[in-house]
Amino acid sequence: MWGISNYKSSGEKAVENIADIQEVNRLDQHLHNSFKNKFLIEPSLTRLLVSFQANKTQPIYRWYKYKEAFSASLVQLLLAKYGLTQGKILDPFAGSGTALFAASDIGIHADGIELLPIGQNIIDTRRLLNSEFTGDDIHRLKNWINLKLWKQFEHQLTLPELKITQGAYSPETQTAIEKYLAACEQENPQIQTVLLFALLCILESISYTRKDGQYLRWDYRSGRGSGKKSLNKGNILDFDDAITQKINEIINDLEPPTQQIELFPTHKPQGKIHLYKGSCLEVMPCLPNGSYDAMITSPPYCNRYDYTRTYALELALLGVSAKELTHLRQEMLSCTVENRPKDLLAINQNWQLALSVAENQTLLQAI
Ligand SMILES: C[S@@+](CC[C@H](N)C(=O)[O-])C[C@H]1O[C@@H](n2cnc3c(N)ncnc32)[C@H](O)[C@@H]1O
Repeated sequence: MWGISNYKSSGEKAVENIADIQEVNRLDQHLHNSFKNKFLIEPSLTRLLVSFQANKTQPIYRWYKYKEAFSASLVQLLLAKYGLTQGKILDPFAGSGTALFAASDIGIHADGIELLPIGQNIIDTRRLLNSEFTGDDIHRLKNWINLKLWKQFEHQLTLPELKITQGAYSPETQTAIEKYLAACEQENPQIQTVLLFALLCILESISYTRKDGQYLRWDYRSGRGSGKKSLNKGNILDFDDAITQKINEIINDLEPPTQQIELFPTHKPQGKIHLYKGSCLEVMPCLPNGSYDAMITSPPYCNRYDYTRTYALELALLGVSAKELTHLRQEMLSCTVENRPKDLLAINQNWQLALSVAENQTLLQAI
């Protein structure tokens, strides 16, 4: 809609843009007025509750700080409010799986769909730790931090990187990570999964980068991102300290204090969790009708927020190639801001109604 003709002067275009914005505001006001009586202000839904912040103090949920996550308390509050105590829920944009685990904790089954390998890894590892991890495995993890096994290892594995992650760590940190990866290879698959996950949890804190909105910002010490965009990140954690602390946190959360076990010996039934890996656009049409009692989700905004950039360190470590990264990014965009009605209908004819609602929504079209 902007700058329809190339032959207009910049002054004429500016006037046109102001007129467009005024039209958007008018339509917005109109829509707001039509739904005025439906809006409710719910004071209990504070920023702390709806965002990831509340998870930071919750055992297990605090392991990986998924910035776009909502809190487990919010999910449980909603389930309680709508009286859902059994059955099955769906989260088609599962992220780190908050909705799935919060539902499962109170005995509700949960299916999730997630496109990005980082979210998939978080969910898979938590499921493993919930069910198949044994006392022996915990003992092995304790061994890892007591003996700092990676430090005794001579051999190194090359840390996979992408163009946008080059130079993300100091040379000492990079060597420590590469020794750690090589040492991990000696372990059984379960321990390997948890050790890799622990590394994913600390990557940002030991790197020169910080996740910021829709991209990575680079600390001035990295030599990248000079000028206005460079940042002073403050303390960059030492690899040995950070990984020891993270593995300790995981062990502590998995082993409740003995006193607590004796006082509350109950074993709560947990709901089953299933994760579909891929785009919800492709997966959802294949799900059987009427199989869910509720859907709890937080979709990406309809903008160009690029998760593949924000999570580039993690995706590189997980072995995602540059080509795969572009593909993931395209799959995300085609679900939101770059979706094309023709492609959507090719996936599922039943979306015609939703598409015509969007097409006839004047405010959406004006934007
Ligand atoms: C706002 S986050 C959800 C966070 C989640 N509620 C949590 O608590 O962790 C949105 C998620 O949707 C995922 N996503 C984006 N496009 C997708 C698609 N087409 N199919 C499936 N997942 C997608 C993103 O990778 C991201 O993890």
